[in-house]
Amino acid sequence: MTPCPSVLPLNHGKWAIPSVIPGPMEGVMHHLFCAAVAELKLVSGWMTPFIRISVSVPGHKAIYKFLEPFLGYDLPVVVQLLGSDHRKIADAVAAILELDVAGIDLNFACPSKRVVQHGGGGAMLKNPDAMRRIISTLRERYPQITLSAKIRTGFDSPNEMHSYIPELCSCGVDFLSVHYRTVSELYNPSPGRRERMTSAAQLSSVPIFGSGDVYSINDAIELFQAGCSGVMGARGWLKDPMLLKRIQNINSNSPSLPTPEDARNILFNSMRSIAKNNPSKFYARSSFIEIAAFMWGPRSQRFQQIKNMSDSKLMGERSLPLG
Ligand SMILES: Cc1cc2nc3c(=O)[nH]c(=O)nc-3n(C[C@H](O)[C@H](O)[C@H](O)COP(=O)(O)O)c2cc1C
Repeated sequence: MTPCPSVLPLNHGKWAIPSVIPGPMEGVMHHLFCAAVAELKLVSGWMTPFIRISVSVPGHKAIYKFLEPFLGYDLPVVVQLLGSDHRKIADAVAAILELDVAGIDLNFACPSKRVVQHGGGGAMLKNPDAMRRIISTLRERYPQITLSAKIRTGFDSPNEMHSYIPELCSCGVDFLSVHYRTVSELYNPSPGRRERMTSAAQLSSVPIFGSGDVYSINDAIELFQAGCSGVMGARGWLKDPMLLKRIQNINSNSPSLPTPEDARNILFNSMRSIAKNNPSKFYARSSFIEIAAFMWGPRSQRFQQIKNMSDSKLMGERSLPLG
């Protein structure tokens, strides 16, 4: 039987970190989407998309606005930061820790051209000194926090992780999230997930989340068998919003869950009713369109149908599927 622990084996921190969570998704995790996910209890915790720390450190107001969609649901929230300047990152963390968050995560994984050109995200994997400086600074200044990093297995080659995974662990991260692709592989189909994640788990002295192409329970089982303590589902979870719950239930005889198609409709209709009840806080047409594209695919008939719906119909009474 594959073990699926409910939380990561960590020693400190007020909040436990659940072992099955969604991968952070910038541009997807909007207020409306997060509210519907929380209302339907589809997740046990969040890792937020990245807050970018570049020229200036965001103030309290900006940080609260960014984090508001995730707070207030009694769920652990790990806040992700993306930057390369250890002093600015440490200052941002001071402001974030005034809120009740479960941990701070550092994004050393993002493959976006713009981010990488500025030396952030995945480009940090080529700069172990800078990664070490950030982690050591945070660990020294905030010894009590749960600290983690999200990485890929390399910039150009998965062999690269051999040099930096042990190093990150020795600087004081509590856990790592490892997307099995390299930065150069972007989101393209890539070989050897099981082998890469087995190596990552062997190299790491702290628990790791496995990430990348988790579309089914079997994908999660592969990652647990490779030595991961936790699993993150991202695009596959949008295609089946009950996927994380299915994975959590691997070892239990829980009642059967709705099918992926029903789960998509349940989530979408929940977004519609939340938007209808409080449009000034929650309604954003772009959120519906973005989520529909991920859930049904941009070429699907359902997506075209939703794209053509008026604002009032999006917030209307009738449930999808529409007759
Ligand atoms: C639209 C989108 C936005 C993402 N934003 C972030 C982000 O802000 N921070 C991060 O660490 N990873 C981000 N990711 C990466 C995912 O968390 C995840 O690691 C990756 O998609 C691989 O998992 P999957 O194959 O299950 O989607 C993003 C992925 C997508 C598709």
